[in-house]
Amino acid sequence: MAVSKSIKITVDNRLRHIAFIMDGNGRWAKKRNMPREYGHKKGAQVFHDLCEYCNEIGIKYMTVYAFSTENWKRPKTEVDAIMRLLEEYLDRELPDNVKIRVIGDVNALPEKLIKKIRDVEERSKNNESVVNIAINYGSRAEITTAFNKLLAEGRKNVTEADINAALYTGDCPDPDLIVRTGGDLRISNFLLWQAAYSELYFTDTLWPDMTPEKVDAAIADFYSRKRRFGGLDKNEKKD
Ligand code: IPE
Ligand code: IPE
Ligand code: MG
Repeated sequence: MAVSKSIKITVDNRLRHIAFIMDGNGRWAKKRNMPREYGHKKGAQVFHDLCEYCNEIGIKYMTVYAFSTENWKRPKTEVDAIMRLLEEYLDRELPDNVKIRVIGDVNALPEKLIKKIRDVEERSKNNESVVNIAINYGSRAEITTAFNKLLAEGRKNVTEADINAALYTGDCPDPDLIVRTGGDLRISNFLLWQAAYSELYFTDTLWPDMTPEKVDAAIADFYSRKRRFGGLDKNEKKD
């Protein structure tokens, strides 16, 4: 799929960071009587296109959930296929105008994949817009790793800012909008700390069926919301 849509939406600094829980690849394939891996392949292409699209409309930070710390529970054939796909995509299918960073416990990944990750991070490091790909990522593991890092520095006390900085996403703003495809209404161990005040958007659309138009719909919904962060709206303050 080429990003053929003429762009209607642009974002401002209220939407700096968008995150996607890219769910539904397996079901998309099953509906077509194909193996789940086929869905992952199509899902990777859709990721590429939407990554370009988000960059075009002015999103500075994008984070996508590609493989969780719990996804190792799946059959080895599926896990191996996902690892192979990631390797392939990191090699040649990524947009070349974004700064790619992998968040998660990279060291537990296959050796060849680790090398690809290092290469692509190095190759893309001077680009402006950031795309975080969460691979072997779990938010609880991320927070635990952050605490251990701070303990190893000999800290007796930590602030919220210290914890924030020690997370994989340390230098990113919190996600303004988290989109989950695939119809399930849960977070599945994704950005638990960072999502404290994120707007959540759930759609039944399976990830391989996502399009720029559907991203626009999520963004339009985001802009219709009032974010109060625990305070009051401007109008309410006048009462
Ligand atoms: C998301 O799609 C991709 C990964 C978790 C790797 P799924 O593989 O979870 O697809 P469904 O949810 O079973 O349809
Ligand atoms: C969440 O999807 C993880 C990714 C999209 C990578 P899952 O399919 O693993 O989530 P659950 O098991 O339905 O919660
Ligand atoms: Mg799923």
